[in-house]
Amino acid sequence: MICSTRKVAIIGTGFVGASAGYSIVNQNIVDELVLIDVNRERAYGEVMDLQHCVDFTTSRTKVRLGSYEDCKNMDIIIVTAGGPPKPGQTRLDTLEISAKIAKSIVHEVMKTGFSGIFLVASNPVDIITYLIWKESGLPRNQVLGTGTSLDSSRLKSILSEHIDVDPRSIQGYTMGEHGDSQFVAWSHLTIGGKPFMQILEEHKEKYSGIDLDEITDQVRKAGFEILNRKGTTYYGIGNAIAYITRSIFNDDYKIIAVSTVLDGEYGMKDVCMGVPAIITRSGVKEVVELRLTEDEMEKFRHSEQILKEHMAIIGL
Ligand code: LAC
Repeated sequence: MICSTRKVAIIGTGFVGASAGYSIVNQNIVDELVLIDVNRERAYGEVMDLQHCVDFTTSRTKVRLGSYEDCKNMDIIIVTAGGPPKPGQTRLDTLEISAKIAKSIVHEVMKTGFSGIFLVASNPVDIITYLIWKESGLPRNQVLGTGTSLDSSRLKSILSEHIDVDPRSIQGYTMGEHGDSQFVAWSHLTIGGKPFMQILEEHKEKYSGIDLDEITDQVRKAGFEILNRKGTTYYGIGNAIAYITRSIFNDDYKIIAVSTVLDGEYGMKDVCMGVPAIITRSGVKEVVELRLTEDEMEKFRHSEQILKEHMAIIGL
């Protein structure tokens, strides 16, 4: 009996790639994990370190060092290569170097005949996702980015401190750019299924201290609050990558705020942005179109404009 093995390669084994690998091994998400990096010595160090985790987990993950030739048979290729913004920079400021790296990666991968799914985490992730989709020639459902999945997780974590509810009982999304122009779709945020706006209305006194703009700002700045203290971020994004990877392999039909190519959804085209989407074994099955308020749509269109202005810089 041949059971289909779950094979993943991570290209870029810096902090983010290594953390994603650690989450994937710890959560037994794949059968085979291949690490690829220009710095092969460091990548081999990560391979050995991860191999030494396996005995403590509940099922075996074969971890090994690889090269582009291994990509042909991979189900999912996770792309994390690229550097964090320098102090004072935004994620968009890393665009040109990240685009150059991403272009070379996608060309090397596609030369092998790879026909699986790209999961992109390299920043600025929305533009790099679009670039990899464009250069790969793969159908749009097979190229997705971590998008605002991490921002949505941060939103739930921060909000849960205000209303004392488990973040996992909060359903809601940060949308748009994984960056400064992101926004929260407050109109569709629910707590245990109850609209948050209704909860605020019914408990004005109790929640008078909650400022939605302030929370939105805290979420937007969270990555930099971490980066300014420890030089970069990796646990949150590492788990976001693992979570999406598992959802793909499990054919979950879970709705996650990933960065995906919009082709008319929300009235937008030719851009990748963080939107709730149904994730299955084929990647992005469908974008979920929320009926956003006019104010939210205005923020969404602003995000689109920012991204397209920067896409033009690299000829997209
Ligand atoms: C962050 C990086 C992944 O927001 O952009 O932590």
